[in-house]
Amino acid sequence: MISRELVSGVYWVGALDFDRRIFDELIPLPEGTSYNAYLVRGSQKTALIDTVDPAKEYDLLSNLVKLGIECIDYIVINHAEQDHSGTLPMILEFYPDARVVTNAKCRDLLVALLHIPQERFMVIADGETLSLGDRTLQFFITPWTHWPETQITWLVEDRILFPCDLFGFHAATSELFITDEAWAYRSAKRYYAEIMMPFRGSIKGYVEKVRGLSPAMIAPSHGPVNKNPQFILDAYADWVSDTVKNEVVIPYVSMHGSTAKMVEHLTGALITRGIVVKPFNLTRTDIGDLAFALVDAATVVIATPTVLFGPHPTVVSATYLANALRPKTKFASVIGSFGWGGKSVETITKMLDHVKVELIPPVMVLGEPDEATMQALDRLADEILKKHKEINIV
Ligand code: FEO
Repeated sequence: MISRELVSGVYWVGALDFDRRIFDELIPLPEGTSYNAYLVRGSQKTALIDTVDPAKEYDLLSNLVKLGIECIDYIVINHAEQDHSGTLPMILEFYPDARVVTNAKCRDLLVALLHIPQERFMVIADGETLSLGDRTLQFFITPWTHWPETQITWLVEDRILFPCDLFGFHAATSELFITDEAWAYRSAKRYYAEIMMPFRGSIKGYVEKVRGLSPAMIAPSHGPVNKNPQFILDAYADWVSDTVKNEVVIPYVSMHGSTAKMVEHLTGALITRGIVVKPFNLTRTDIGDLAFALVDAATVVIATPTVLFGPHPTVVSATYLANALRPKTKFASVIGSFGWGGKSVETITKMLDHVKVELIPPVMVLGEPDEATMQALDRLADEILKKHKEINIV
């Protein structure tokens, strides 16, 4: 590995993980990821901001050694999740005089997760500052920029924000700074959908708070550094807003073709009515792509065959995930087929308790869909169009 300089005396010292393909054993990482740690040298003190995933601990250590860092005074931990804190025990061994600077809630998690001794901590409060001599760090406690203990760190004189997970994205790239904003937008939106969307309500306020700081750079804990903060702040302002688009997402599974025929017909009916449709065959869908589509869609139609007495387990899994991600979706419905009854509609609608959706009457058919089924799907498309018109997105 290699360290890179953001500005004089401020270095990226993290690790690139080109090979990693899944995070939390859940989130696909098509472009790998990075664990960004930063070193800030002041005239009197030196601070390390975050560490890296334990799988890459030697990358961080060798970066510090190659930079000739013999003393670290402070290790700021913005977030206790192990991809940023996991190398803390090793760094504390190598730098025995370093204090861990974080908020009380994060300290408690670090003690529980990593068994860091209490005496190594310096606990800070919201808004508190820490002088490094000619440089100053300021800390803002920002719960739920992934976990409840998260905080962001502001390098006052250089106007660099270190927001940890917030505003970053999963990608391993040799470029220190974002150079392709179209690529960065898609990657950041996917990351927002997978990680930040459940906390949309809290993040709204943080976007405005960060705007108020007017950062020159945003240096997150995943992905390249952003020298055009306006770009990501505008994108986040859109994603966290209550505005939805004239789009329908259809996650589906079909075992013998009946549900697939219904999805195909509904897709055509919606396209005919000028609505953007995004069907996802869940047996081969990257769930990051599904999450991405949920950021803006006004309506979700869940399509399932019946297995025994309820929805297909793959549909149950996707519905559980969609509910947990809490998209701003306004309307939902269920379509599918059954052989001898079952409670697919009840099971799915009960699972949507975290999303404030209005349910549009479902279309469930016994066996093979017939002409009457297709007409019912046309009426469903009419109803979706009507609902979209009512909220002025058509
Ligand atoms: Fe990148 Fe919530 O850890």
